[in-house]
Amino acid sequence: MLYGMAFIRIQDVGKSFETAAGKFFALRDVCLSIEGGEFVAIVGKSGSGKSTLLNLVAGIDRPTQGTVDVGTTAVHRLTENQLAAWRGKNVGVVFQFFQLMPTLTAIENVMLPMDFRGVWPPRERLDRARRLLADVALGDQAAKLPAELSGGEQQRVAIARALANDPPLIVADEPTGNLDSRTADAVFALFTDLVRHGKTIVFVTHDRDLASRASRLITLSDGRIVDDTGGAGRVPVGAGPPAAVPVPSAAAAARVDDGGGPP
Ligand SMILES: Nc1ncnc2c1ncn2[C@@H]1O[C@H](COP(=O)(O)OP(=O)(O)OP(=O)(O)O)[C@@H](O)[C@H]1O
Ligand SMILES: [Mg+2]
Repeated sequence: MLYGMAFIRIQDVGKSFETAAGKFFALRDVCLSIEGGEFVAIVGKSGSGKSTLLNLVAGIDRPTQGTVDVGTTAVHRLTENQLAAWRGKNVGVVFQFFQLMPTLTAIENVMLPMDFRGVWPPRERLDRARRLLADVALGDQAAKLPAELSGGEQQRVAIARALANDPPLIVADEPTGNLDSRTADAVFALFTDLVRHGKTIVFVTHDRDLASRASRLITLSDGRIVDDTGGAGRVPVGAGPPAAVPVPSAAAAARVDDGGGPP
């Protein structure tokens, strides 16, 4: 336990890319603290730096300036190999296009992170994967290949996979961006449930309704945080239905995509 310290601490972070036209800053002067158990939505126009920021939180990429600490780990100091090992244990990642292995069945996809990390004994992996699929209401689809599943089902497999090693942090980049609104709702309900069980979730969305249902709303514009609303922190464990999740003000919700929208 880190007394008096936030779970995720981002300090003076910048991320620049060398391009043909010179140095381009995707993020500038970003400072951000996220407590364990927060449910954070990141919004902003296309190109505002949302994925870049999420990738730094997840240790998929490293900042060019500043520091990113998650738990007791200085993520910005890790080498590529150390990053991969750290992610495997600490972060569940969910993508817009699911990114399941097409030649593996649903249950094999869920077992993959466990096989990589090798913490669960081999004989327990199958049982654990079965339980995780049952938790996302796919217990009876375990033997199907991704191509035999609907988009919503594939995303639920991806969420089960993200939970395989029981990471404290889940990051998701437009997790419902490729789903119809009803399926998106079902996927979002799973996230809400995970937060209620103590996970920390940071997700990027263009959907103002979903964003308004997170407990904190961070708006990026041109690589800077221009608004940070909610921050109420923890959703109480055992809190009632999703409606019990603290909701940012209507004014904050109205600002959600910063006038932008999907590209
Ligand atoms: N590898 C890279 N090289 C050069 N520029 C990059 C690179 N990755 C991202 N960028 C630039 O950084 C900016 C932020 O990109 P990012 O992907 O974070 O935006 P985003 O907010 O996630 O947008 P979208 O909503 O379209 O996904 C963009 O202008 C993008 O072109
Ligand atoms: Mg993006």
